[in-house]
Amino acid sequence: MKSRILELLINTDEYLSGSKVASELNISRAAVWKHIKVLKQEGYNIESLSSKGYKLSNYERKLNKYELEILLRKLGLDLNVHYLKTVDSTNTYAKKIDDKSAIIVAEEQTGGRGRLGRVWSSRRGSGIYFTLMIRPDIHPNIVGMVTQITAVALKRSIGSKAMIKWPNDIFIGDKKIAGVLTELISEINVVERLIVGVGVNISSVKDLSDIATSYSEEGLNFDPFEFFESFLSNFFEMLYEFNKSKDLCFLKEEIDNNSYFMDRDVNIVGSNKEYVFRGITTSGNAILEELDGKIEEMFFGELSLKRR
Ligand code: BTN
Repeated sequence: MKSRILELLINTDEYLSGSKVASELNISRAAVWKHIKVLKQEGYNIESLSSKGYKLSNYERKLNKYELEILLRKLGLDLNVHYLKTVDSTNTYAKKIDDKSAIIVAEEQTGGRGRLGRVWSSRRGSGIYFTLMIRPDIHPNIVGMVTQITAVALKRSIGSKAMIKWPNDIFIGDKKIAGVLTELISEINVVERLIVGVGVNISSVKDLSDIATSYSEEGLNFDPFEFFESFLSNFFEMLYEFNKSKDLCFLKEEIDNNSYFMDRDVNIVGSNKEYVFRGITTSGNAILEELDGKIEEMFFGELSLKRR
């Protein structure tokens, strides 16, 4: 409700009377007043005049629960918003909530997790950390492809310099700018919840400068609202397509054209065998060509550029 009141105030330069807000939102004037009080405590400069009503002044958009709710309404997305100052991990949090679907955004994580048991550095101000918790009507056997949909949504949002490092890291040059940790809770045939966690580096990542980059290091401007608008609209449009096609046919060309590994010599991490990366299958597997021309498909794991 607070986000609806805020939206009304953002969209008018005039004073809005308490009774107008109340009737528009079908709540009492006392309830309006209570919500306004909380919005003021959150730092919004709302003038109140008993004769005229409420007016928002010196408004600056800031990332919080209310403004994310306004954005989601604009995008027509039905996700509950959890905006947290601090949390161990937004993915872990997403496993505990009962919502039908949600987005969890944290300003910092004290136990940020990466793929393959790694730590994801999550200091306040240096990155954006969020998780989508959804319950898609997709068979658990193919739901893994959603990680590559996430990578494409990230690539489109970060921009032309970003490349997809199979399966779902985002690189600029030879350094990582964003990563995805997808987790699944399911029964044999039914996805109970799909947890898609995303970390994006905004400013330099301490002690990791040889392997990680960020918006600021790349000279890119980061606007959280532009980012979320682009990421969420792209992600849910692609998820809708995927629900129909049940494969990545509609994305294969884009993924291949933006692949960090495309036609390069690679090793599977932990093995010395050499391959040339030849893109992905329509199921999202990596196509690896051995030196004798034999083709292998890789479903899960990690690749690195061939050591020289
Ligand atoms: C990786 O590249 O290894 C995946 C990194 C994923 C990090 C994000 S930050 C938000 C969400 N919460 C976590 O604990 N991890 C993911």
